[in-house]
Amino acid sequence: MSARSAFRSAHTLIAIATCGVLSACEQAPQGSAAPLAAASAAQPARPVAVAFAPPPSSAIPDDAFGVVVRQGEALFRNTPAHAPQYTGNTLSCRNCHLDAGRLADSAPMWAAWVSYPAYRSKNRHVNTFEERLQDCFRFSMNGKAPPSGSPALVALEAYSYWMASGAPTHAVLRGAGYPRLPKPAQGWDYARGQALYTEHCALCHGADGQGLLVEGKPWFPPLWGPQSYNWGAGMSRLDLAAGFIKANMPLGNGNSLSDQQAWDVAYYIDSHERPQDPRYLGSIEATRRQFHDGPYETYGRTVNGHLLGVGSGVSGGSTVTQAARGRTTTTLRD
Ligand code: HEC
Ligand code: HEC
Repeated sequence: MSARSAFRSAHTLIAIATCGVLSACEQAPQGSAAPLAAASAAQPARPVAVAFAPPPSSAIPDDAFGVVVRQGEALFRNTPAHAPQYTGNTLSCRNCHLDAGRLADSAPMWAAWVSYPAYRSKNRHVNTFEERLQDCFRFSMNGKAPPSGSPALVALEAYSYWMASGAPTHAVLRGAGYPRLPKPAQGWDYARGQALYTEHCALCHGADGQGLLVEGKPWFPPLWGPQSYNWGAGMSRLDLAAGFIKANMPLGNGNSLSDQQAWDVAYYIDSHERPQDPRYLGSIEATRRQFHDGPYETYGRTVNGHLLGVGSGVSGGSTVTQAARGRTTTTLRD
């Protein structure tokens, strides 16, 4: 069983376990709960990864449906330009889902399309594909969730659905999500991560992690600071960041770092300030307890004497945040 399918099965088990406390389950008519639970328990694990390749963009049909598929692709490639009302940073979907959402091991949209609705421990209910899209706007894009059924979501759904042409539903497609790396033997370490960052990443993402903007357009995306993903985003979790980095970075040279190196550099990146978690409960401690209690979180932890979670753009942020702000302004003014 692949790490991905193990992960999915674990989610299924959590879903079954949680059912008992969900009001929907409690409201089920008398007598229906037991057969439902039995059926779920007997349900076989989802099939092991199936190979799949999405059709090329050139095969997008020249009809009314194809027009909306193309809108989805354009939005995916340059999100701030096509959905400014829903984005709060300079990132685009493609920055974390490479090759415009087509690349395996980069959470491709064709594999995601056939994986929803799915239970997510993050919000403890079954999420539709649409809700999953809304989450990446709210957290990864540090923006606002487009309303259900809005043209932006319809376009992204059309694009994902089209890319999944011919894929089996509810299968785990090979290359889905980011790879899950085994836990690192040596834990993770800031100094080791910093050295790796300087050697392998700073060239493109900048020594200050702010990437490179050319005429307001991001050539290399920022990794922390006010224009990055916020503290509620998946990439702020070390296991997801390490998996993404291992498979995809340095760009064009994925899988060149060891697992240990991917964990260390992920820890270095996620030890810097970024925009506040939009679910902020009024104190870092309360927010940490409610949303960031897992083993792969840095929010609410102290690194190098700085309590992470202040949020960039808020006074009292780390010197790194101050430096980041300076650089961003300079680049924008140029
Ligand atoms: C800062 C990085 C980042 C950006 C930008 C981003 N995402 Fe994501 N996205 C993630 C991470 C991390 C995951 C979780 C991957 C995993 O679980 O393996 C994810 C997961 C997803 C999934 C579910 C994938 C699956 O297989 O379950 C969808 C759908 C998705 N993103 C859509 C989008 C869209 C659409 C945009 C642009 C509006 C976007 N993302 C922007 C980081 C990002
Ligand atoms: C050759 C330039 C280059 C190098 C070197 C490089 N990256 Fe990237 N990185 C990119 C580009 C470009 C993207 C966006 C990909 C896209 O849009 O197609 C990206 C995306 C990312 C993202 C997700 C987007 C975001 O802003 O959060 C992370 C995280 C990341 N890189 C981390 C790293 C790490 C860690 C290293 C070093 C091990 C590294 N990169 C080395 C160019 C580079």
